[in-house]
Amino acid sequence: MLFSIIATVREDLANAREHDPAARGDVENAIVYSGLHAIWIHRACHAMWVRGWKGPARVLAQFNRFLTGVEIHPGATIGRRFFIDHGMGIVIGETAEIGDGVMLYHGVTLGGQVLTQTKRHPTIGDNVTIGAGAKVLGPITIGANSAIGANAVVTKDVPENSIAVGIPAKVRHRKSDEQRHLVDPDNYVDPGSYII
Ligand SMILES: CC(C)(COP(=O)(O)OP(=O)(O)OC[C@H]1O[C@@H](n2cnc3c(N)ncnc32)[C@H](O)[C@@H]1OP(=O)(O)O)[C@@H](O)C(=O)NCCC(=O)NCCS
Repeated sequence: MLFSIIATVREDLANAREHDPAARGDVENAIVYSGLHAIWIHRACHAMWVRGWKGPARVLAQFNRFLTGVEIHPGATIGRRFFIDHGMGIVIGETAEIGDGVMLYHGVTLGGQVLTQTKRHPTIGDNVTIGAGAKVLGPITIGANSAIGANAVVTKDVPENSIAVGIPAKVRHRKSDEQRHLVDPDNYVDPGSYII
């Protein structure tokens, strides 16, 4: 159990370094990244939730929101290597299901459109990236390896390997040379300009 927690924390720290060009050492990242704090506290909340300790799980989730600005319902299922950059203003609903390797920027909502106690939040496939401020609403599926543009509003299924932008979101195929992070320093920094 302890070894598995340590392995998960190390994987999360490596994942943060991979996804954020501003990330530096692991100790510093563990202290300053709200997105890491949010997923670590959520894992505790979710473990409590599935064991039936629902009240304490909700209270801890509220503390998580207070600390990080990230509101994740304890019932939400989230896979490995989940990363939130910048934290703040994220809402993830109770019946959301998130695969492995998913990344969210600040201001993302994975929300519902109905008030019934059914599956009402999105299912997000593996390796999906969701840009800042995007709203993904309803029990829809975002296919693996897709990207949702900043501020998009998505209310319909998005196939695998797609890019969805705008309101309402328009979907197009994501070409193989676009299988990179949405914010990649290599797109902006001329390698010849590095100071060694
Ligand atoms: C959607 C995204 C992945 C790029 O997709 P893309 O198809 O490669 O985008 P391009 O830059 O080639 O632009 C294609 C067109 O879509 C438009 N577009 C790009 N992103 C858009 C967005 N989020 N919303 C609306 N339109 C967008 C462009 O203006 C362009 O329009 P044009 O054809 O009329 O000129 C990217 O723009 C994006 O939104 N990334 C999110 C990054 C983010 O949240 N960063 C936060 C860092 S703190």
